[in-house]
Amino acid sequence: MPAKSRRNLLLVAGALLAAAVAVPVASATPETAGQPGIVGGQPAAVAQYPFAVFLTDENGSQFCGAVLIGENSVATAAHCAKAVTKTNLRVVAGRQDKRVKDGTVSTVSDIWVNPDYTDPGTGNDIALLTTSTRLRYDTAQVTQTARYYAENTMATVLGWGRLKDNGERSDVLRSVDVPMISDASCKTAYGNYDPSTMVCAGYANGGKDACQGDSGGPLVVGKVLIGIVSWGVGCAQPGKPGVYTRVSAFADELEKRSNRGLF
Ligand code: ARG
Repeated sequence: MPAKSRRNLLLVAGALLAAAVAVPVASATPETAGQPGIVGGQPAAVAQYPFAVFLTDENGSQFCGAVLIGENSVATAAHCAKAVTKTNLRVVAGRQDKRVKDGTVSTVSDIWVNPDYTDPGTGNDIALLTTSTRLRYDTAQVTQTARYYAENTMATVLGWGRLKDNGERSDVLRSVDVPMISDASCKTAYGNYDPSTMVCAGYANGGKDACQGDSGGPLVVGKVLIGIVSWGVGCAQPGKPGVYTRVSAFADELEKRSNRGLF
């Protein structure tokens, strides 16, 4: 083998080794490992949740989460889609740590906001973004069935939002597992709870929840998308569960509007 190819081979081997060593460091540095999560969670790997993406403004400042459901299709909360203009909106995929520049950044060519949406407290908090760039990452699967909403089903919520109510924002993707709550209990917690387009998750004693900045992000069972982070009173408070957009109510609409990238 010529010396030059041998050197290139060594460089490639070195880079692979560096990458293999770097990944666990990025997913749980000593400073972040074991600290409270989203609220009460832990750092998570985008390799495990490739459909977890985030939204930034034109300056790269993260303000919401979102979820990849087709290679040009990203579901989020309506209140997130309306937070900045279409021109200024960016979707960032494949980036676990907001401080580094890896993954793919795309502008948005089209925004569908559920026409029934007015504000999170009245529900219907869902939107679909069409990205200008193909985001070639594994997608989440939109649920078509109600079975995931059964009381006490465990689901995972993902995001880059605050670590506690009004607290610091996370630099890295975090996850926390929460049980689904019955419509009756959620109605007790929130008078404006509307089970036709919302669903609640969390522990009666609080402690684990999504928080500000997590809005628009996914609530999943495995790879199945069942909720979109929408609202709550504070974060992780006893008796005040997280409220999510009930994705099954919009499955047909999302299916119809999303480009699943089959070609
Ligand atoms: N509305 C918040 C946002 O824009 C999400 C709040 C979720 N709160 C909760 N306690 N689960 O990021």
